[in-house]
Amino acid sequence: MLNSILSLTPDQARALDQYAADCTTGLSPLLARHYQWTRDTFEDADRASSLLQAQWMMQRAQERRATRVLDVGCYTGLSALAWYEATKQTGAEASTLYAAWKAFVSYGCEDRIRVVEARAEEALETLAGPFDLVFVDLEFSAYRPIVGQILDRGLLADNGIILVDNVFARGFVIGEARGNIDPAKLDHWKQSGQVVLDFNAFVAADPRVTVTIWPFFDGIAEIKLRGSERSSK
Ligand SMILES: C[S@@+](CC[C@H](N)C(=O)[O-])C[C@H]1O[C@@H](n2cnc3c(N)ncnc32)[C@H](O)[C@@H]1O
Repeated sequence: MLNSILSLTPDQARALDQYAADCTTGLSPLLARHYQWTRDTFEDADRASSLLQAQWMMQRAQERRATRVLDVGCYTGLSALAWYEATKQTGAEASTLYAAWKAFVSYGCEDRIRVVEARAEEALETLAGPFDLVFVDLEFSAYRPIVGQILDRGLLADNGIILVDNVFARGFVIGEARGNIDPAKLDHWKQSGQVVLDFNAFVAADPRVTVTIWPFFDGIAEIKLRGSERSSK
């Protein structure tokens, strides 16, 4: 297949998503429970990552043997739990900004998840690097200042990665993608598409980093410090 993305109707995409989940083994029971609780409890649960995305993130952290993780944008904490689950062996510290603290306490995860209840822009000023893995998943208008701040302050480890979620903005980075969203939110997503378009161009033009846009989930930007591939060998 020469293209990176299949051409699918929204119904086909939903059915394949379910098929993928059904055929996947070894999903974390804690993540599955928290994902279901989020879906059952909140009307805006669409803000959370999908369970398969959380599982993928776990694998990325495991492969990298991350010892310090920064999770920027918490919501109910699915991504923070993914980092927690992934780093049991390295005993990593995961810092998450804005939190569903009660969930962590009830799961007994507060031993390694540090919750910083503050706006990310201000919280970052108080944190010291380096972080092996940073996950950026918050309001789109904060993407550019947050990633800029992380790079300017040297918070990313030499061989670290920043994963930025939703860099397709539900498809609106290339114009309208009505099939993917509630019509009542059309204006929000049109504006978001423009903001994320600007962010993607900003990162691509930054000489300090290399970026790969992975065309899965809602688009993930993987950002590394330029030259880090060489120094990791
Ligand atoms: C898309 S949700 C995060 C989902 C979560 N990472 C997951 O995987 O389930 C975005 C979260 O970021 C928070 N947020 C938005 N803007 C923020 C900011 N400037 N600083 C900190 N948190 C912010 C929102 O309140 C919301 O909880």
